[in-house]
Amino acid sequence: MKLRMYTHAERNLSGKLPSLWPEFMDHDQVISTFWPRLYDVYADFQLWVVDDKETIGYACTLPVKWDGVPEQRGLDWAMSNGVVGEPTTLCAVVAGVLPSYRGTGVASEILERMRGLATAHGLDCLIAPVRPTWKERYPLTPMESYVRWRREDGFHYDPWIRTHERLGAEILSPAPKSMTVTASRDEWEEWTGLQFPEDGDYVVPGALVPVHFDGGRGTYVEPNVWMRHGV
Ligand SMILES: CC(C)(COP(=O)(O)OP(=O)(O)OC[C@H]1O[C@@H](n2cnc3c(N)ncnc32)[C@H](O)[C@@H]1OP(=O)(O)O)[C@@H](O)C(=O)NCCC(=O)NCCS
Repeated sequence: MKLRMYTHAERNLSGKLPSLWPEFMDHDQVISTFWPRLYDVYADFQLWVVDDKETIGYACTLPVKWDGVPEQRGLDWAMSNGVVGEPTTLCAVVAGVLPSYRGTGVASEILERMRGLATAHGLDCLIAPVRPTWKERYPLTPMESYVRWRREDGFHYDPWIRTHERLGAEILSPAPKSMTVTASRDEWEEWTGLQFPEDGDYVVPGALVPVHFDGGRGTYVEPNVWMRHGV
């Protein structure tokens, strides 16, 4: 592996990665409205990961003004109220690597680089509304419980939280409303390939909690977990 990381300002590698997310994840209004600004306004804070000549991962971060209190609205907060005022802190937005590169340590290098960005820009720490990668296996378990699950060796049960912790991050608290996706039954059916014939709660692949249908509209409120890395 010949790994390199570039900021978007250094090298624009957009469009070279397949989507790493379930379709419904692209439909949080706050996030999809803000998203182009990450690359247009905050290009120094977006990373592309390259192995030899292939783009194999990416990460996005955003400088925010943070008062030290974990915000319930997680990512939605970061991409709205979080950018108002003089930034104090770097907030991780997303990290993704191609499936064939998972479990190789690339993810840790991305987190280290994010921390480096915080230092380089004079920000006080790196915070992250972490999307635990195995939570989708337990969509009925409240995040408040899941966040406490540990293995016998003391490490966290969730692989992605574990990677953050190994690098010294601490869990702050869940962000119960980090993302919200609301759409019609038809849209949800198109995104998921499932049918939702009646109102009620449905387990949807890739979702961390059930999607709630009421009056023909489906609402998904995704909980994440706030973590903090010192720099
Ligand atoms: C989140 C993500 C970047 C983490 O990358 P990763 O490569 O899985 O992370 P790590 O290399 O730190 O691995 C974490 C743990 O899972 C294990 N693991 C992950 N993928 C593995 C694989 N394909 N084979 C074997 N082990 C694997 C690692 O060995 C490690 O276990 P350990 O702590 O017991 O050593 C990656 O899973 C991903 O891109 N997921 C899709 C997007 C996403 O959900 N992003 C997070 C929210 S922003």
